[in-house]
Amino acid sequence: MGQIIDGKAVSQSVKDSIKAEVAELKAKGIEIGLAVVIVGDDPASKVYVRNKKLACEYVGFNSYEYALPAETTEQELLELVDKLNNDDKVDGILVQLPVPKHINDKVVIDNIRPDKDVDAFHPVNVGKIMIGDYSFLPCTPAGVMELIASTGTEIAGKECVVIGRSNIVGKPQAMLLLHKNGTVTVCHSKTKNLAEVCSRADILVAAVGRAKMITKEYIKEGAVVIDVGMNRDENGKLCGDVDFEDCKDKALFITPVPGGVGPMTIAMLMQNTLTAGKEHKCK
Ligand code: GUN
Repeated sequence: MGQIIDGKAVSQSVKDSIKAEVAELKAKGIEIGLAVVIVGDDPASKVYVRNKKLACEYVGFNSYEYALPAETTEQELLELVDKLNNDDKVDGILVQLPVPKHINDKVVIDNIRPDKDVDAFHPVNVGKIMIGDYSFLPCTPAGVMELIASTGTEIAGKECVVIGRSNIVGKPQAMLLLHKNGTVTVCHSKTKNLAEVCSRADILVAAVGRAKMITKEYIKEGAVVIDVGMNRDENGKLCGDVDFEDCKDKALFITPVPGGVGPMTIAMLMQNTLTAGKEHKCK
């Protein structure tokens, strides 16, 4: 049986080190704030926002929550973003996605000040990730990198396969692995011989969004397998993109769902908020 990577434990240690740093800053009179904006009442988004708020409380950030009704216009949302851009108490701004269909999320993201864009979704931050000159890393790929680091696995020279090419996970994930000198392949729905390509991977990151699609035929013996998926199986139970039971004996390290990548995303959001706060208030 491969070793299970404990995302909760890694996340806890990241949050504890942030908490200690926040306490030191507070002793010097420096307070850091994160504004979280949610539009409408998508139940999953509400849970995510609540968890972000709880994480802020845990590490010692001030959190400012704006829960707007689903009928909010794009203009009204942009006015709020502008207000937060100009509020010195707010170091980070996060607009929870998805926003209702009548609001263009791209326009909203473009209007968040890049130095407060703790999601790292603004084109300026995306560009910085491309050239390896970044202050913020997108939270989920950054969390994946922490989990790989926790196993002690060297990335340089390794075959890394990322399944999925989304702007939020797949593409930035490939960049981060490349910056660590991995040999990176990005697979997607048009990839031929997917199982064969994946089975060459020393490090496999699955971000497809299809329940238990990755079975042991996709896994190289001794691989590090990181599952970004968050799906429901045929019984309505939370599961990843990787068929954990089928793959766990072939992998050397494997993340569970839940309890793998999920908890890391919020820890990395806290990390980005700390980075933003220090940039604004400690220079
Ligand atoms: N919706 C799902 N994941 C995310 C995320 O990481 N950031 C934001 N802003 N919205 C999300």
